[in-house]
Amino acid sequence: MTTRTGIIAAMESEIRDLSSSLEHEGTETVAGREIRYGRLEGESVALILCGCGKVNATLSATLLAAHAKVSRILVTGVSGGLAEDLKVGDIVIGDSFAQHDMDARPLFPLHEIPFEGFSAIGADADLRNLLTEAARAMLLFTRPPGLEEARVSEGLVVSGDQFLSSSEARNKVLGALPNASCVDMESAAIAQVCRAAGLPLGVLRVISDSADGSAHIDFAKFVEESASIACAETVRHAMRALAR
Ligand code: ADE
Repeated sequence: MTTRTGIIAAMESEIRDLSSSLEHEGTETVAGREIRYGRLEGESVALILCGCGKVNATLSATLLAAHAKVSRILVTGVSGGLAEDLKVGDIVIGDSFAQHDMDARPLFPLHEIPFEGFSAIGADADLRNLLTEAARAMLLFTRPPGLEEARVSEGLVVSGDQFLSSSEARNKVLGALPNASCVDMESAAIAQVCRAAGLPLGVLRVISDSADGSAHIDFAKFVEESASIACAETVRHAMRALAR
């Protein structure tokens, strides 16, 4: 049986580069979502543009698992930096995921998913290593604009249905999750689907802002001109490594 990799991004600009280098084999629309099938670096993939937020992410990951029958999922795109030493352009590979807005107290501890008995979910170790190596290779060979000084690290990615854009919002999340490396709106939801479906997950995030509203660069421009190239090139390196 062929192995197919599902690839998810929240925004069109985050997946455009990848989509244009896809050897396109067909498109299906299921539950209002387009799944684009094809080959990247010879490997079979299913690309899906999920939109922002945990519900969109959950829907898309479930479609990839149950309909497109993928055997692993990669998530790519941008993220707000939370760890002190992270700068715009740095790359974080998720090693674990938690929902910063999950709060069913007093029935369950803060961040614990009710009746599931856990709050954090780990990434697949092989995919994490694959993405870390691929991101390093991308920086070595490509270095897109804005990533001249970029560094690659692994860490906790926290997700919630909120774009963090004030110091208060940032500090609130960091106060409850001091080890959080970066924040997005999808990864932890996708991690829960992958855990339930028994699918390995790898997450690649380029830091686009510091989640405090102090955006000193144009967010949209950075995603379009820098992060999209970094994400696409890193995924291509990863697919090449998977093909070997
Ligand atoms: N994705 C990119 N930047 C983000 C932020 N500041 N908050 C949530 N998701 C993000």
